[in-house]
Amino acid sequence: MKQIVLDINKIFGFIPEKQILDQAKAAETANNELESATGKGNDFLGWLHLPSSIADSLLNDIQKTADHLRTQCDVMVIIGIGGSYLGSKAVIDVLSGSFDALSGKKPLIVYAGHQIGEDYLYELSEFLNGKSFGIINISKSGTTTEPALAFRLLKKQLEDAIGVNEAGKRIVAITDKERGALRTLATREGYKTFVIPDDVGGRYSALTPVGLLPVAVAGINIRQLISGAIDMEKTTGKNIPFAENPAAIYATVRNELYKQGKKIEILANFNSKLHYVAEWWKQLYGESEGKENKGIFPASVDFTTDLHSMGQWIQEGERTIFETVLSVAQSRYVVEVSKDDADLDGLNYLAGKRVDYINKMAELGTQQAHVAGGVPNIRIEIPELNEYYLGQLLYFFERACGISGYLLGVNPFDQPGVEAYKKNMFALLKKP
Ligand code: PA5
Repeated sequence: MKQIVLDINKIFGFIPEKQILDQAKAAETANNELESATGKGNDFLGWLHLPSSIADSLLNDIQKTADHLRTQCDVMVIIGIGGSYLGSKAVIDVLSGSFDALSGKKPLIVYAGHQIGEDYLYELSEFLNGKSFGIINISKSGTTTEPALAFRLLKKQLEDAIGVNEAGKRIVAITDKERGALRTLATREGYKTFVIPDDVGGRYSALTPVGLLPVAVAGINIRQLISGAIDMEKTTGKNIPFAENPAAIYATVRNELYKQGKKIEILANFNSKLHYVAEWWKQLYGESEGKENKGIFPASVDFTTDLHSMGQWIQEGERTIFETVLSVAQSRYVVEVSKDDADLDGLNYLAGKRVDYINKMAELGTQQAHVAGGVPNIRIEIPELNEYYLGQLLYFFERACGISGYLLGVNPFDQPGVEAYKKNMFALLKKP
């Protein structure tokens, strides 16, 4: 099996190779701190060996539950926010057809509880009216306002439509094994439940039932996903030397760029199906590293779309950025440019060429322009978009994030800052 490939050659015009190699020991130490659980936040390392230790019985249970939901429901509502929905949304978006939702493929996956929008909830509720739908309610703490609010409304709608008993068979809760309001509610109502392990934080939970159940409901092969993650776990694991560990190299390069004033990392893709992979990545890195007045600001763009908007800023704006490009080597389908006798659009010079070839030239041209314009470029090549390589990619970024946080000197597994808005909001709402 191939692997995703990390290419850092286009950073050496900005940082000498020696400077990166000088950090090898520190990166190996950081990785070993993860392995030996001796670093900050070491009670949240359950994700580290999750792929290789996930029980077959759990995968079977997830698949069985997904198969049941798929037979019962035309629409599946995934309720969750942050780490409780971004991993599954990322995987489902990459592996679904761009027009599946419009072409009536079932079950349709929709989301709720990822924001507080009255209009969104109204429109969702209208859409669900008269449809056979189910709910996967995901909250590790079981107390987060956004998903709790959405669940209260949609649970009632489902119960009103098909009765409390039938509704109970189409609701699954994924939460803490014993704590939180969602656990209490699920126990009282007798819902099927899955547990989010105590030692896995929300943003590292994509390969737990949090990510796996929605992905399986979407008809995606979860064993392949885990298999890719297992292989990346080995590639980045204990005692792997720096030069052979792509996660350690990526973590080191981004930290060295940061020290040079490159305070913003832009994750760019040339395949818009990866849009939500970037959303997931932003949460992972933003919440893990943005603390103690430190941390790279993670941003993202979809190319070539955003070359016609953010492209100007990236090319000529403040030189505080570097770019990490997700490039897919092999597209799934073949579309060739046709010949046109009149050639009024002047595109005949491309006749017979694949659209993907044009996209690849856009990527190369962009890399040349941005590097020349002062933007260091890291490239991650994904052989093709399938479950296996996505599993590799998710785990690669998780492992690199742990190493990177340690290199930065922060605890990459807590998120004290997210409480501030909640505290104010609860005071304003007069929460008892
Ligand atoms: O990464 C995190 O811990 C957060 O983004 C959470 O996933 C998010 O706040 C949702 O929390 P919960 O799953 O407890 O509802």
